[in-house]
Amino acid sequence: MNTTNLPTNYRALVVAPDKSGQYQMAVKSLPISNLPRHEVIIEVKFSGLNYKDALSASGHKGITRNFPHTPGIDAAGVVINKTGKFNPGDEVIVTGYDLGMNTAGGLSEYISVPEEWVVNKPAGLSLQESMIIGTSGFTAASAVAEFMEHGVKSGADKVLITGATGAVGSMAVAMLAQSGYQVLASSGKPEASEWLRQLGAEEVIDRQAVDDHSGRGLLPGRWTAALDTVGGNTLSTVLLSTRDRGIVACCGMIASNKLDVPVFPFILRAIRLVGIASAETPRQRRIYLWNLIAEKLKPKNFHTLATTISLEDTPEYLSKMLEGKIQGKILVKI
Ligand SMILES: NC(=O)c1ccc[n+]([C@@H]2O[C@H](COP(=O)([O-])OP(=O)(O)OC[C@H]3O[C@@H](n4cnc5c(N)ncnc54)[C@H](OP(=O)(O)O)[C@@H]3O)[C@@H](O)[C@H]2O)c1
Repeated sequence: MNTTNLPTNYRALVVAPDKSGQYQMAVKSLPISNLPRHEVIIEVKFSGLNYKDALSASGHKGITRNFPHTPGIDAAGVVINKTGKFNPGDEVIVTGYDLGMNTAGGLSEYISVPEEWVVNKPAGLSLQESMIIGTSGFTAASAVAEFMEHGVKSGADKVLITGATGAVGSMAVAMLAQSGYQVLASSGKPEASEWLRQLGAEEVIDRQAVDDHSGRGLLPGRWTAALDTVGGNTLSTVLLSTRDRGIVACCGMIASNKLDVPVFPFILRAIRLVGIASAETPRQRRIYLWNLIAEKLKPKNFHTLATTISLEDTPEYLSKMLEGKIQGKILVKI
């Protein structure tokens, strides 16, 4: 690795187990030789927090196998070195793939990643805005694109978002409202109802209204499309309550990673269930979605979604995230 344009040390969040096996987080100064040896070196300007980062930071072996480790599945910054596709000074975005999982992540002043993972920042977004969006907004946009491609009608059709105050949920509320859909937000936080309305939700319902235990094989149709971030019985209820030929996008497992649902929504209402796996989005689709975000989905009230913190604040906020206490997006200014 050519380190000519790099400092000798860089700051990064480091997660490691202590002597008792408890995972501890601290911002440390690391030698630049610590960076992985990949094609593109990026000076990170902004990152953001995602639930996966909180899992990685708590030692979850399903996310990160080896520690010490730097989490951060999102990064936006400036390219340092010349590569086949990029030049020094290019403003770029990296989200998903293995970043922050088993590759040192974006909660750091520098990252080093394969060229395939990097996309140019679209002109219609700043680096800061791209990280307010981050993986959560990219995930929301992936679902919105699925709805559009399925023919869900802007201005006419009702779309449900569960876990609406979360990072994915709130971004989906704002993007769908921006695109003219009637947004129904389901949340367990009554105190956030007004905030969700300001983001564009027409109606806010308690999350218990999307947690049916009647045992019925179908429920009255209440929405044409839905993005579920919660999983388990919530996803089952969402599917049972989706109108004929509707579409449900499933991206999360906040409540459960299990799905036990009768087949009736599929065989009687032709409901389509689509999975969202944003980390694995192929590069061409990724470029298409970032441009869609910049040109059409970027919400007007966008900045009200974000709380900006420093790298030093990340341990506190990652812990809050595990407790489900985060509202909206946490942007990290590196
Ligand atoms: N597949 C993908 O590509 C992808 C990408 C990003 C994230 N995800 C997943 O999507 C999910 C949401 O991520 P996020 O970043 O939005 O998380 P988050 O910011 O922590 O938000 C999760 C939201 O879920 C709701 N919630 C919390 N505990 C709940 C419970 N016990 N039952 C029902 N709802 C509960 C809360 O919203 P309310 O209080 O408003 O109900 C909370 O704000 C996670 O499982 C994450 O791993 C998947």
